[in-house]
Amino acid sequence: MSEPMPLKHRRIVLGLSGGIACYKAAELARELVKAGASVQVVMTEAAEAFITPVTMQALSGHAVYTSQWDAREGNNMAHINLTREADAVMVAPASADFIAKIAHGTADDLLSLLCLARPRERCALLLAPAMNREMWSHPATQRNVAQVRDDGALVLGPGSGDQACGETGDGRMLEALELRDELIAGLQPQHLAGKRVLVTAGPTFEAIDPVRGITNLSSGKMGFAIARAAREAGAQVTLVAGPVALPTPRHVQRIDVQSAQQMHDAVVPIAAAHDVFVATAAVADWRPATFAQRKIKKDGSKTTPVFELTENPDILAAVARLPDRPYCVGFAAETDDLARNAREKLARKNVPLIVGNLGPATFGRDDNALLLVDAQGERQLASADKLTLARELVREIAERLATVAQRAS
Ligand code: CTP
Repeated sequence: MSEPMPLKHRRIVLGLSGGIACYKAAELARELVKAGASVQVVMTEAAEAFITPVTMQALSGHAVYTSQWDAREGNNMAHINLTREADAVMVAPASADFIAKIAHGTADDLLSLLCLARPRERCALLLAPAMNREMWSHPATQRNVAQVRDDGALVLGPGSGDQACGETGDGRMLEALELRDELIAGLQPQHLAGKRVLVTAGPTFEAIDPVRGITNLSSGKMGFAIARAAREAGAQVTLVAGPVALPTPRHVQRIDVQSAQQMHDAVVPIAAAHDVFVATAAVADWRPATFAQRKIKKDGSKTTPVFELTENPDILAAVARLPDRPYCVGFAAETDDLARNAREKLARKNVPLIVGNLGPATFGRDDNALLLVDAQGERQLASADKLTLARELVREIAERLATVAQRAS
């Protein structure tokens, strides 16, 4: 589901302050480079006690900066030069002392100096705290963290678990891949800031007996990518997922269900509390009329069992009927005649936007192509990986949502 080179053309200043988690910063530098970023490492004196600039230079491919008096810079202004081209400064690990400095605007070494000197409107500051649990929970640290958040920094984590000191609790630095994904998310435009988005994803499973059921080939990848993209765009996201083996996107609230009826019962009561509903789930249209409590056995006769089916509730149509309905986006997974089928569903489901795709060409795969059909016309989103498409779709939805809000005001 991941897009190729998500940090291509991005310039990142990776700052290290003092802490044993510096060992994870080596892997982080590697992951950022692998994701396509140009990484410039800056280390504090304390960081150099934990890991050498040689290691960080080798992994980032650039000589490391450690001092504000670095004579390599013609104008001797490393703090200015390093941040004017940067898309983000990520400090990992960010020690309690370093966060205190940022909270107070202290600038007595290169790293704190460049955090203060960066152009805030186009160069994000991300801090990955790493410290002992007592230090993290100390009111002074919590005050400082609240202050840096207020000043616009993104505070990533910390995680919880075993600590290098032998204690257990909050304060572990997030892992390299988690930090990479937080950085990718932090660089996305905030099209849906403050909005609440509800997504259904995956297939449903309609039980015949305790060991068998009816399902379909949906992998859930498109819906999970949409949930991730909406979250990256600043939304609070609830994801109602059928049976799929996919990891939950970070910061997304997930509700697992099996059947269409369960998905309906999970979605409908909470739908009106959301601004947007995206129905990507491939909901089974029918379920067995009866559920056999015991496994159905062959009885030795030549007759094969015949199953009676009954229709499942239409979740999208039910949400679209709510008096206080969110902006509803339906999906149409078709085998042919995409545009006509999608337009027919637009009317039948009474929703403002249908996203068409070809089921067999996309189920289970990492890429897709989408056709957006609404009252204004059609728009093709060309074949790409599902996360790239999900981000484009989120932007399209945000634009339509803004138009609806404008009309209503
Ligand atoms: N959908 C739903 N509940 C259902 C069936 C479909 O919420 N019981 C939603 C899907 O999540 C999708 C849209 O409705 O967003 C269209 O789903 P699709 O299965 O293509 O449409 P159907 O109405 O089932 O039409 P058909 O199978 O006849 O093409």
